[in-house]
Amino acid sequence: MAINWYPGHMHKAKKEIREVIPKMDLIIEVLDARLPFSSENPMVASLRRDTPCIKILNKSDLADPVVTQQWVDHINRTSGMKAIAVNLKQPDKIRSILDMAPAMVPERNLDVSQLKAIILGIPNVGKSTTINILASRTVAKTGNEPAVTKQQQRIKLPNNIVLLDTPGFLWPKLAPEDCGYRLAISGAIKNTVIEFEDVAMYLAEFLMQHYPDALQQRYQLREIPQTGIELFDLIGQRRGCMRRGGIADTHKVSEILINEFRDGQLGRITLETPEMIENQLKAMEAAKAAIEAGKAKK
Ligand code: G4P
Repeated sequence: MAINWYPGHMHKAKKEIREVIPKMDLIIEVLDARLPFSSENPMVASLRRDTPCIKILNKSDLADPVVTQQWVDHINRTSGMKAIAVNLKQPDKIRSILDMAPAMVPERNLDVSQLKAIILGIPNVGKSTTINILASRTVAKTGNEPAVTKQQQRIKLPNNIVLLDTPGFLWPKLAPEDCGYRLAISGAIKNTVIEFEDVAMYLAEFLMQHYPDALQQRYQLREIPQTGIELFDLIGQRRGCMRRGGIADTHKVSEILINEFRDGQLGRITLETPEMIENQLKAMEAAKAAIEAGKAKK
């Protein structure tokens, strides 16, 4: 899927993060619980070394609770990492990370008992909402857009924690390719730079395979059709957005499907499981190895 990135700004933000992470006692990363792998900043894995890390799986109210638990268990198996699933209606649970944090940091790292933490999160995961809850006040938002980019800011929190907030640039985690689609579905990538109908078709096919009951209930379908195109036609008929000739208005149907997913009207849905990601990464490695083997033969 073609996406229009802003490489200039990403370069600057990457440089800042690369410089700052080694000075931190703790990394707090806000993820979208519906796509905990795709919404990660890939630099965290490469830069964190043994810095403790709390992964906040936010928007848990929109995610499949069974899969969220799988992700929490999966992340907790990584040394020095703790996962917590939360949503904005659980401020006390979000604030519990202020008690969790000091216990994760070795005492020798605490410079005059101040704990330096950085908070990261791609756009729209709920980073600002989380910061406001942690600080118990409204903190100015760091910008995601070139024109409104505000610089890093330091926020004093209880328990002598100082939180460094950075602009929430989106990183090109587009491998495996499915990550790009999931980011687009979630709203992390602006609608104007994605192939909207292509993204909606990906969502339609995913739901047909993994959440057919949710589709049947929402669109009152007697049965799940064979193809995404047939599903578009059925949704078009149900919602009165058909063109002449009995063909669905694909843009309108795409909007319905994507918006109703984002608002949780289709139910609690997660777009990726740890097992799915493992298989997709393996397939990607196998494809890479096959290309290398092909090159070596020539
Ligand atoms: P960001 O800083 O990471 O870009 O995200 P921000 O906190 O601005 O949140 C982005 C959107 O996600 C907001 O909705 C916010 O209300 C919503 N949100 C944040 N946390 C949760 C959550 O746990 N559950 C649900 N369901 N939504 C959450 P918005 O429509 O953009 O703004 P608004 O309607 O809140 O003004």
